[in-house]
Amino acid sequence: MKRVFIDTDPGTDDALALIVALNSPELDVEGVTTVGGNATLADTTRNALRLLDHLGSDAPVSRGAARPLRGRFEYAYHVHGAAGLGVRLPRPRAKPTTERAAERILRAASERRGDLTLIALGPLTNVARAMRREPRLAEWVEEVVIMGGAVEAPGNVTPHAEFNVYNDPEAAQEVLTSGAQARLIGLDVTMKLHLSRNGAPWAAGGSVSAGLANRVLGSWFRTHPSSCRYHLHDVLAVAAVVEPGLLQYKRARAGVETRDPERRGKTSAVYSGGPVRVAVDVDAGRARELVRERLSASFHLAAGR
Ligand code: BDR
Ligand code: CA
Repeated sequence: MKRVFIDTDPGTDDALALIVALNSPELDVEGVTTVGGNATLADTTRNALRLLDHLGSDAPVSRGAARPLRGRFEYAYHVHGAAGLGVRLPRPRAKPTTERAAERILRAASERRGDLTLIALGPLTNVARAMRREPRLAEWVEEVVIMGGAVEAPGNVTPHAEFNVYNDPEAAQEVLTSGAQARLIGLDVTMKLHLSRNGAPWAAGGSVSAGLANRVLGSWFRTHPSSCRYHLHDVLAVAAVVEPGLLQYKRARAGVETRDPERRGKTSAVYSGGPVRVAVDVDAGRARELVRERLSASFHLAAGR
């Protein structure tokens, strides 16, 4: 079982990614850290607490950065809906930890040396802040698995930049060049994995997870009447950790454009070895099957973890 921390900005696809992670017996979700991005930090933290509570998880949630290393986040309420999630969930019992995200990531990685995978589903601000505080974090983590970037594919915020990297290019550059083992799961592969409007119900059975997944997806399709496809960006990053053979990678040195205003947030890769595995292809059929299964099941609850 892989010990993981999930750094996230829920976010509809973050919500589905959390469901998949909690329903995967291959993963032990030790902690969740939040960052602004799809919505304000207050909204993403509230969403994370509510989602985990609703799903019956007691993984602690720690609040992270409300702002990127420079400037301000651009939010995506127009994509993810009201409060960044589009569905209402009951008030959670748990509160965020008093320890903030960067400190928590650092402490966990230091305790777990080599046995902690960070899955980053939002802007990389928390991870970069933790690395600034303690550069040895790059050696202490087993791997940083990042949903972010668009290397060959076009961006989704500008022609060049993907949303998470665009929202904190400096942080992404610092993490990708830190020497940490990393995987970059960008639009090059995530645009190949979607659920279709006419595929409802997307998750089967009567589990709490399936109910939540179907509500999130149903609400999203209702508020985007002209979209036929929902892309499973963050979900694919979690699936990549659950099933290592799902994606194909090329080893690279990767970096992010931070200066040129037009290309700001563009991720690039030089494929001549290096610490970053850039995802270049995905078995989309298998990925969809895995995602549907994990959105439907309740291993987490069944295992009583
Ligand atoms: C990424 O942007 C966010 O809106 C999603 O949650 C995902 O992390 C895709 O570009
Ligand atoms: Ca996200």
